[in-house]
Amino acid sequence: MTHSTPPAALGAKKRLFLRSWGCQMNVYDTGRMADVLAPLGYEPVDAPEGADMIILNTCHIREKATDKLFSELGRLRGMKEKKQAAGGEMVLAVAGCVAQAEGKEIVIRAPWVDIVLGPQSYHRLPEMVARAGRAARAVVETDFPVEEKFDHLPEASAPQGVTAFLTIQEGCDKFCSFCVVPYTRGSEYSRPAQAVLAEARRMVAQGTREISLLGQNVNAYHGEGPDGREWGLARLLYALAEIPGLDRLRYTTSHPRDIDEAQIAAHRDIPAVMPFLHLPVQSGSDRMLEAMNRGHTAEEYIRLVDRLREARPDIAFSTDIISGHPGEKDEDHAATMALIRRVGFAQFFSFKYSPRPGTPAAGAPYRVDEATKDRRLQEVQALLIEQQAAFNASKTGQTVPVLFTGAGRQPGQFSGRTPWLQPVHVAGDASLLGQIVPVRILAGQPYSLHGELLHALQQEKNAA
Ligand code: 5AD
Ligand code: SF4
Repeated sequence: MTHSTPPAALGAKKRLFLRSWGCQMNVYDTGRMADVLAPLGYEPVDAPEGADMIILNTCHIREKATDKLFSELGRLRGMKEKKQAAGGEMVLAVAGCVAQAEGKEIVIRAPWVDIVLGPQSYHRLPEMVARAGRAARAVVETDFPVEEKFDHLPEASAPQGVTAFLTIQEGCDKFCSFCVVPYTRGSEYSRPAQAVLAEARRMVAQGTREISLLGQNVNAYHGEGPDGREWGLARLLYALAEIPGLDRLRYTTSHPRDIDEAQIAAHRDIPAVMPFLHLPVQSGSDRMLEAMNRGHTAEEYIRLVDRLREARPDIAFSTDIISGHPGEKDEDHAATMALIRRVGFAQFFSFKYSPRPGTPAAGAPYRVDEATKDRRLQEVQALLIEQQAAFNASKTGQTVPVLFTGAGRQPGQFSGRTPWLQPVHVAGDASLLGQIVPVRILAGQPYSLHGELLHALQQEKNAA
């Protein structure tokens, strides 16, 4: 007996598997792709096996992104062929920054891919799916009509949860020597404030209490305001803080050069703006900062941190550091260590420099050898881990407001985040979900905090 899959009835459910690598913007974009495909009957599933459509949302910022993509595509090829042999179909799409940068190569090396789309083309997905059904070759869309993308995406539908991301800005004009973003994501574009506010209101109506505004260079935000004037990030933060029920605001990633007085004042004046800022510095050496085209000195960065601390004394910082950028000498590395000591970070991301094709640093002379890069990175990481552990330990004995977001690692535990983004685990249950509750911190570990609910303490005392 032979089986053949009956033609899908109109409106029949189709299984959509989405896989996302990389930054939070990609996580957000992946959700929006699910939203645009929902009217076509696509419903997200947890595993690729048997899916009707698979989207790989790629990230170009990490090393070996392309290799990882091709090995995943190799695996999926087998799955797709099996499904086809049984009379079924599987649409395979590659999205994100690797698609943007290497669209042509993907089509040549993996001809079983049906759709290649850059980050600015997600709203065209339904049309591309239809075209892919008719086309013999892959449908490729890697242009930059970014304004259009936001105009055409449907209003985000699926509730995102207690904490949610909201992209307000895309692209970057900074052209740091090492970075592919200006080439893959294009130049800066800010969404109109009205659209951002409307999306935030919808999220809050669906239960979101904390929103993280996203953008490659989020504090370069300059969207059109409802008054027809240009709004900066600070103006937007003030407006968002007025939405009832939106208790916490964060934004990432900021460039030190784009932090203005208004933004510093927003940290001082708006209680909902959390006292935590991710502010990449990349290096503590003026020579390297110049080679990296960062547009500021180490001293300017430190002054900025001090001004933010004056405005909001409990503010904590996180940063990105790159070890081994071309031309980096021992004294540059020592300057980075000194800056880290001077600032004191609560969290960090650290990277070994790796060349990205097409960026200025990739062709620069004076490469640092791998062993030196490794050694420097290890030193940077050891110091930053020590600082992170010290920051977490410093919360021991304090009572801090925790926004509860989900079940903990162990049964009977519930987890949330402090204003400083530290994960906290307490004995508790799902009744805590979405609540901001005072928690007494019992122990600060390097990666998380352990605490107890103050009201539980109160109940015990009352019972005694
Ligand atoms: N090599 C190493 N790290 C990089 N980053 C960006 N490009 C590179 C590269 N070529 C790091 C930077 C940036 C973070 C998102 O990734 O530190 O801030
Ligand atoms: Fe890349 Fe950030 Fe520099 Fe822009 S500011 S080029 S996104 S590292």
